[in-house]
Amino acid sequence: MRIDILCLFPEVFDSPLNQSIIKRASERGLVDIVTHNIRDYAHDKHRTVDDYPYGGGPGMVLKPEPIFEAVEAIKEQFGTGETPVILLSPQGRRFSQSVAEELATHPHMILICGHYEGIDERVCEHLATDEISIGDYVLSGGELAALVVVDAVVRLMPGALGSECSADSDSHSNGLLEYPQYTRPHRYRDWSVPSILVSGNHGEIAQWRRHQAIARTAKRRPDLLDRVSLCDEERKWMLENS
Ligand code: ADE
Repeated sequence: MRIDILCLFPEVFDSPLNQSIIKRASERGLVDIVTHNIRDYAHDKHRTVDDYPYGGGPGMVLKPEPIFEAVEAIKEQFGTGETPVILLSPQGRRFSQSVAEELATHPHMILICGHYEGIDERVCEHLATDEISIGDYVLSGGELAALVVVDAVVRLMPGALGSECSADSDSHSNGLLEYPQYTRPHRYRDWSVPSILVSGNHGEIAQWRRHQAIARTAKRRPDLLDRVSLCDEERKWMLENS
């Protein structure tokens, strides 16, 4: 997969894209992430990318021309015809694990990070094919939001994680929060690992984990349960244990 990121502060990406899973995925050729400075597409010698808002009001608004031209140049070279052009903004649809799974199916995507007070609406209407928000709060710019999206998508690429199946047990991948995990020592201070986990009975361990995931979701995020299909035994267990 190729990911092009358009922004005003490409340096923000230097360290996060060069660590851990994203770094390894890049080194393995699973993903090619390229950052672009929108200023490189400005028309004047001052590399102006923003201007005052029509109608007045505080702050500056990102101009449309550099953004349109940057996206068009990238699409011309790498576009697939179905390349999603995603604007990160607090007005977008809410990012989630299922949106990450949907994006991971594309061989190419372009992310646009806004800044300042906003971005010319023609970018949203006529250039972006999607607008994504990572939550109901306002960041100073789209860079951190783009990093969240990139991280969630890249770890879904086959071969990005150490073990092929480790993304399957992640919180949210089956609609539930993840079950509790333990490692050595068996006893730490006064707290021991649940005995079932050292029983060696894989069937019972799997059932215990599923129950724990259900109980945790019911307690912390009951809103998620509406969209999860539980069998009769699991529903009964949940009612008896919550
Ligand atoms: N830019 C500023 N705030 C944002 C948010 N919550 N999500 C995505 N992009 C943003």
